[in-house]
Amino acid sequence: MYICNPNNPTGTVVDSGKLRAFCERVSKKVPVFIDEAYIDYLPDPKAASMMDCVNKGQNVIIARTFSKLYGFAGLRVGYIIAQPEVVKELSKYAAGGMSISAPSVQAALAAYQDKAFLQDALKKTMASKNFLYDVLKKEGYEYIPSSSNFVMFPLKMEGEKFVAELMKRGVGVRNWKFNNQEWCRISIGRMEEMQAFADAFRQIS
Ligand SMILES: Cc1ncc(COP(=O)(O)O)c(C=O)c1O
Repeated sequence: MYICNPNNPTGTVVDSGKLRAFCERVSKKVPVFIDEAYIDYLPDPKAASMMDCVNKGQNVIIARTFSKLYGFAGLRVGYIIAQPEVVKELSKYAAGGMSISAPSVQAALAAYQDKAFLQDALKKTMASKNFLYDVLKKEGYEYIPSSSNFVMFPLKMEGEKFVAELMKRGVGVRNWKFNNQEWCRISIGRMEEMQAFADAFRQIS
């Protein structure tokens, strides 16, 4: 059972009490894999994490990555927390000591300990996200309030056209179609990047 919390691509978050009860019940039957790639964007990541389910001995696997708040996409560093026998079993499918380079491990450790950097990155992400919310609201668009570093909103035109028009203006975004509705997902960038999106978006919205 795979659950992404906060979820990609919606950015929504599941109630931690309900998820904890779910993990306890379902992990008795099948392993429960909780993808916590975006957990650091929540106000209280510790309270929202299912790490304690692993500590209680449940068959829960927590996955984390350095690609999001830590800013290390491309470095390919992540980790899981699970029962020792599960880690042992999964290690058969990893490349052993050769899978992550020493500089990558050192960079990840430095980032993990750099609380000031993480706080600053979080603050900047929140400011860019609030800016994006305002742009969308002003242009008459709704959006799904996000607990991650992207925002999803329903489009008022064909998705591929929207993406192509933005690309012509130098802005790359993704589109999806769910239940006959076209959606766009904007990743949060630096304020000047959000400004570039806003300028292009206003021209076509
Ligand atoms: C839900 C989710 N899990 C995990 C990842 C993994 O990131 P990486 O492979 O860069 O560690 C991503 C990256 O986009 C993601 O969206």
